[in-house]
Amino acid sequence: MFDIVSEIKKLKKEKDLSILAHYYEDGAIQDIADYVGDSFYLSKMGQQTPTKNILLAGVVFMAESVKILNPEKTVLVPDMNASCSLVKGAPYQKYLDWRLAHADAVCVTYINSSAEVKSISDAIITSSNAAEIVSAIPADRRILFGPDQHLGRWLSKKLNREFILWPGACEVHVLFNAKKLFQLTQQHPDAVVIAHPECDESVLQYATVIGSTSRLLDEVTNNKTTKKFIVATETGIFHQMKKNRPDAELIQAPVLDEACACNDCPYMKMNSLEKIHQALLTFKPEVKLDENLRLKAFISLDRMMKITSGQKVTWPEKFTAPL
Ligand code: 13P
Ligand code: SF4
Repeated sequence: MFDIVSEIKKLKKEKDLSILAHYYEDGAIQDIADYVGDSFYLSKMGQQTPTKNILLAGVVFMAESVKILNPEKTVLVPDMNASCSLVKGAPYQKYLDWRLAHADAVCVTYINSSAEVKSISDAIITSSNAAEIVSAIPADRRILFGPDQHLGRWLSKKLNREFILWPGACEVHVLFNAKKLFQLTQQHPDAVVIAHPECDESVLQYATVIGSTSRLLDEVTNNKTTKKFIVATETGIFHQMKKNRPDAELIQAPVLDEACACNDCPYMKMNSLEKIHQALLTFKPEVKLDENLRLKAFISLDRMMKITSGQKVTWPEKFTAPL
């Protein structure tokens, strides 16, 4: 009988390929992956995995980041339509105009962005390393931060540093509802509220722990002072949380419309075992980037890699329009 999981495992070996999966993927996908993690971890594993080929089970900007850092590797995705509302909300030309209007500022861009937008940015960040990267920028430099305004606002307050914010948002995290969350905390006073910084600040005000997906998983895994967590992020993360803390009660943070599956990222959930199997058979869809674009986007991503590995970097004084 055809067993898709065994087939995928067999093809992975035959084709010298590793599967990197994000925490928001379905549990079955996370379970067949060689590496599961947040967006920064997946970028690092793309560099460290010894295989020649990679399938990124996540969204396309994550696979593009792996390709930008590893041009010699073939990088596959299960579905090329797996975008992100932050990518869609930051088109290249508008982002360029914004940059040019603040040419003296350092442009810090969330990894949830297109390769084109990365190519006109000074540094890429993820929610797990954003504070470290921004702290490496000289205090007298102005900072442009995009495309996630909520992550930017949270970070700006945390670091006590003014940002000029791009008005983008994650369509999943903005749906968590502050009023209903407050009511839930009243019903469960023993629960620790944990939230991803892509949530609106009205929601974040109730969170004890705010951080990347891996930070939130770490909290559930290691905080033994409670057995109850209210979780304000995408549902896929529950898979690892339940594995790591089978004794804990995990409560999904509320959205306004109880009937909708709004806590599911529609892009992450485009992926399936069937599409992964197909991609391994055909070696398609493959992420391909123009080499000129890749080299430009590499600069900002590489600054992230350098700073997070303790290396010193320099910052351009002024941005000029690309030729
Ligand atoms: P993490 O870097 O925390 O995994 O977040 C990625 C993301 O897309 C959250 O919506
Ligand atoms: Fe983008 Fe939001 Fe989906 Fe993350 S959860 S990939 S930010 S739409």
